[in-house]
Amino acid sequence: MRRFVFALSLFGAALLAANGLTADEPKKTDAKLTKKDLGKMMKDAHHGAKSPHARTAAELKKDAPDWEEITKDVKAFVAMGEAFQKVNLNYTSPAKYIESTTALSKAAGGKDKKAATEAFTGLTKSCASCHFYGGAPGGLEK
Ligand code: HEC
Repeated sequence: MRRFVFALSLFGAALLAANGLTADEPKKTDAKLTKKDLGKMMKDAHHGAKSPHARTAAELKKDAPDWEEITKDVKAFVAMGEAFQKVNLNYTSPAKYIESTTALSKAAGGKDKKAATEAFTGLTKSCASCHFYGGAPGGLEK
């Protein structure tokens, strides 16, 4: 019987711990992202020939960019900008990235290629506020 009680109280402690975990969970998804989450979004948005970043670059080189595609891809940058605000980026500011994204979104809405190209150049330059080319986190290179 003693042993049974002991086991029960252990079980109770485990339950408490589990409750503690679930109580923390909404915080994680609502307010906080980890660097790892951010890294994944970064990769999805910017890395590779099929990424929104590469697609937008390709579209803007065309005489008649596919504005619908650009508008779709800009959403990935907007989501990225929102994600920045949920991570403690103690070393850098996402302001330039977000500013450029907003400008790009507006330019895409107005199908303004000149403004879109400028905004996109700004967006691409903004990577450097957080990434150092040559020695970047995750081996980013040009
Ligand atoms: C406000 C800061 C910030 C800006 C601006 C920014 N990044 Fe990032 N990026 C990060 C952080 C933080 C990570 C996650 C790094 C880590 O895993 O510690 C990351 C990760 C990445 C990764 C994934 C690396 C890997 O191998 O896991 C890629 C690719 C990337 N960024 C590309 C870009 C590009 C391209 C731009 C510009 C269009 C950009 N980033 C702008 C902060 C930023």
